[in-house]
Amino acid sequence: MSTSATRENLAQRLIAIRRRLHEYPELSGEERATTEAIKLWLSEAGIRIVDYGLPTGVIAEIGGSAGAAFDGQAVAQGSGTSVPRFPVVALRADIDALPIREETGLPYASKVDGKMHACGHDFHTAALLGAAFGLKKRESELPGVVRLLFQPAEEKAKGAQQLIAAGVLEGVNAIYGIHNKPDLPVGTIGVRGGPLMAAADGFVVEVDGIGTHAASPEAGSDPIVTASHIITALQSIVSRNVSALDSAVISVTRLHAGSAWNVISEKAVFDGTIRTFTEHVRGTVLQRFEQVVAGVALAFGTTARVKWIEGPPAVVNDNRWAEIASRTAAAQGNTVVEPALSPAGEDFAFYLRQTPGAFLFIGVDGPQQWHHPAFDLSEEALPVAAKLLENLALDALRELTVTEDAKQEDVGD
Ligand code: NI
Repeated sequence: MSTSATRENLAQRLIAIRRRLHEYPELSGEERATTEAIKLWLSEAGIRIVDYGLPTGVIAEIGGSAGAAFDGQAVAQGSGTSVPRFPVVALRADIDALPIREETGLPYASKVDGKMHACGHDFHTAALLGAAFGLKKRESELPGVVRLLFQPAEEKAKGAQQLIAAGVLEGVNAIYGIHNKPDLPVGTIGVRGGPLMAAADGFVVEVDGIGTHAASPEAGSDPIVTASHIITALQSIVSRNVSALDSAVISVTRLHAGSAWNVISEKAVFDGTIRTFTEHVRGTVLQRFEQVVAGVALAFGTTARVKWIEGPPAVVNDNRWAEIASRTAAAQGNTVVEPALSPAGEDFAFYLRQTPGAFLFIGVDGPQQWHHPAFDLSEEALPVAAKLLENLALDALRELTVTEDAKQEDVGD
C-alpha cells in the first residue's frame, strides 16, 4: 500500500474513533465505557497498558522494552522503587465530556441526552490514539519511553491530580498536552512559552447581617446593601491593584438574598470566579479580595467570609519545551503562531508544576468556542494533531538523549 493510502486509512480510522467517542460522551469520573474502548484500541495495536490502579482513564507505554538502544531494563511502572534508565516523555489527552445538551444536528451527535463532548476531548483522545499507533510502528527507533496519559475528569479539574497521585509522572522528563482551538485554522499550531491559560479559582462569599422589617432598616444590618458594595468594590482590584502589564478577571456570577419584598434578609450569598496568569498576580488578587470583603462588611456593620474553591493554577509552559514544539510543528509543515492568553482554566497546569513541558493549541476551525452546545470542529485537524504528538514524542526523546549524552561527557572530562 502506498504511504498516502496508509495516511488516508489512518485519518479515516481516527475519524471513526472520534465519532464513536462523540456519540457516547461520559462525564468527569464516570468514563468507564470510554476507558474500556481506549484499552481495546490500544491492545489491538499491541500497545502495553500499565496498571496504575485508576478507576477510569488509561496509562500506556511504548518503547523501553526492546530495541537496540536499550538493554532490556524495564521502566518504573508506578512502583516508586526502580529508577527508569531511559528518558521518558509523557503525552496527555483528556477523555471526559460535559453536562450539555448537544445542538449540532450532526449525524454522529451525542446519543446521551444532556451530555456532550463540547470541549473536543473526543478529538484529543482520538489524536493521542493516532500518535500511539504511529509510535508503535516506530518503536524500535525510540530512544526512550513514551508514556500515554488518557486522563479522566479534566472538566472538574480533578483528573490530573489523581494521575499524579497514582505516580504517572515518576521518571517523566518532559510532558506535552494539546487542546483544540476553534478560532485557529486547521494546520495552525499555537505555541507559547510562559503563561498560556489562567488559574481558575472560585469563591463563595456569605454576608451575615441582621434581618428586620423593611420599613425599619435601622433596627438591623442589611446584607444586600453590604453585598452590593462589596461586589462593586471588588471591581477595583483589577483596575487598582493589578499592573497594566498583567491581567486578571474577577466575575461575580450569582447572587442570592432575601425571601420577601417587605423583609430585610439576614443573609446574602454571592459566588463567581477569578482568573489570573501568574502566581504573583493570583496571590495579590486573592489577598485583596479577602481584604475588600472583610473591610466593606465591617464598614456596613455586617460580617462576611470567603470560601475558596481552589482551581487549577495557570498553565505555564516551559520555554525550552515550547521552543522544541515550535520547531517540530513547523518541520511538519504547520503554521506556528503565538496564541493569545486564554482565560479558561485547564488542569494540565498541575503536571507542569512538577514536570517541564508545554501545552499546545491545535487549530480546528470550529464555529463556536469551547463548552457551547453547537461546538464542532474540523476533523481534518485529527491527523495533524496525531502526527504532531507522535513527532513531539520522538523529538523530545532525541533532545533528552542528546542532553544526557552531553552531561555524561561533561562528567567524563
Ligand atoms: Ni477542554
